[in-house]
Amino acid sequence: MLKIRNISLTQFKNYHSRSIGFEKRIIGICGNNGVGKTNLLDAIHYLCFTKSHFSRFDQGNSLIGFNGFRIEAEIDLENKNENAVCILRETGKKEFHLDAIPYEKFSHHIGRYPCVMIAPDDVQIITGESEDRRKWLDTLLSQLDKTYLTHLLQYNRLLQQRNSLLKNFAESATTDFTLLDVLDEQLVTQANFIFEKRKLFFNEFIPLLKNNYYRITSVNEAIELKYESELLSSSFIDLVKWNRLNDLSAQRTTVGIHRDELIFKLQNQPFKKFASQGQRKSLLFAIKLTELDLLKEKNDFSPLLLLDDVFEKLDENRIMSLLKTVCIENQGQVFITDTNNDRLSTHLNYLQLDFEIINL
Ligand SMILES: Nc1ncnc2c1ncn2[C@@H]1O[C@H](COP(=O)(O)OP(=O)(O)O)[C@@H](O)[C@H]1O
Ligand SMILES: [Mg+2]
Repeated sequence: MLKIRNISLTQFKNYHSRSIGFEKRIIGICGNNGVGKTNLLDAIHYLCFTKSHFSRFDQGNSLIGFNGFRIEAEIDLENKNENAVCILRETGKKEFHLDAIPYEKFSHHIGRYPCVMIAPDDVQIITGESEDRRKWLDTLLSQLDKTYLTHLLQYNRLLQQRNSLLKNFAESATTDFTLLDVLDEQLVTQANFIFEKRKLFFNEFIPLLKNNYYRITSVNEAIELKYESELLSSSFIDLVKWNRLNDLSAQRTTVGIHRDELIFKLQNQPFKKFASQGQRKSLLFAIKLTELDLLKEKNDFSPLLLLDDVFEKLDENRIMSLLKTVCIENQGQVFITDTNNDRLSTHLNYLQLDFEIINL
C-alpha cells in the first residue's frame, strides 16, 4: 500500500510552516474557502509528480514575499518508510530527494507514487484544447510506463531542435538536407514508439472507460472515445518526407504525435458541445476511475486519490455512489476536500468508514 504518514510545508503557497500527520486511510480536509485545502493537495501532487497540478511555474508557489519552498513527507510504500523532499531553492533551482539522495532526473521519480487527482478544472480534458488532452494522456502514460516519459522527453527535445533548424534555414536562406535527415531519423524513432504506446493504451482504456461511465450514470448512453493521429493513416517517415516543403515554409514541424487528438462523443455528437454539465462531470469521473483501475493493476496497490471539491453540484445519490467507489471499492489512501465538514462527516459515517477530518 501507498500512504502518506505526514507532510511538512515550508513557505509553500499560503503555508508559512506547517506539519500535518495522517493517521487514517480516508482523510477529509475541511475549512472555508481560501484556507489552503487545494494547496495541500497540490503539495501532495508535488511529491508524486515533482510539480504542481495547476501551474508550470514553481516560483509562483512560494509564499508571497519569499523565494523558494520545501515540501517534505514520510511515506509508507509497501511497508517501507521513505522520506521524500521537494525543495525549490532561493535561486529557483528545484531538487527532489528520496531518502536524502537527490534525483539526477525528475523523470525517474514519476510513477513511484502513483496518484490520481480530480479537480473541478480537470473538465478541461473534455472541454479544453487538444493540448489539455495530450497533457492528461502523457501524465497517465508516464506513470504507467517508465520508458514512455523518456521517449516523450526525447521527442520534444528533437522537435524543438528541428523547429529551430527550420527557422535558421529560413533566416539564412540555406537548407542543409543532410542535417535534417539525421534529425528526422531520430524524431521518427521516438514518434513511432510513442504512437505505438498510445495506440495500445487506448485499446485497453476505451472499454474500461465505457464500463465506468455506465457504472456512474446507470444509463446506457452511447459514449465514444477516438484516438486520432496522423500516424494512423501513414507511416511517420513518409509523412515527414512529404511535408518537408510545408515545414520549411511554416518554419515548424507540421506533422507528428504532438498533434494527436482525442475525440469524445455522446450519441455520435461531440461531447464538449452536446453533453450537459452533469454528463461532463460523469465522464470526468469515469476517466479518473479508469486511471485508478489501470494504475492499480500496474502497481498491485492503489494510487493516492486526491479529490478536490468534487461534491459541488452533485445530488446526494451521486455523492454516495462516488464515495462508495473511491473509499470502499478502492482500498488506497484518499484525500477529500470539502468546505462543509458536516456534509462530509455525515456521508462517511453513513458508509461506516474509518476516517479523520483535518480542519485547516
Ligand atoms: N504563493 C502564495 N503565497 C501566499 N498565498 C497564496 C499563494 N498562492 C495561493 N495563496 C493563497 O491560498 C489561498 C487559496 O488556497 P486554496 O488551497 O486554493 O484554498 P481552498 O481551501 O479554498 O482550496 C488563497 O487565499 C490564496 O491567496
Ligand atoms: Mg479549493
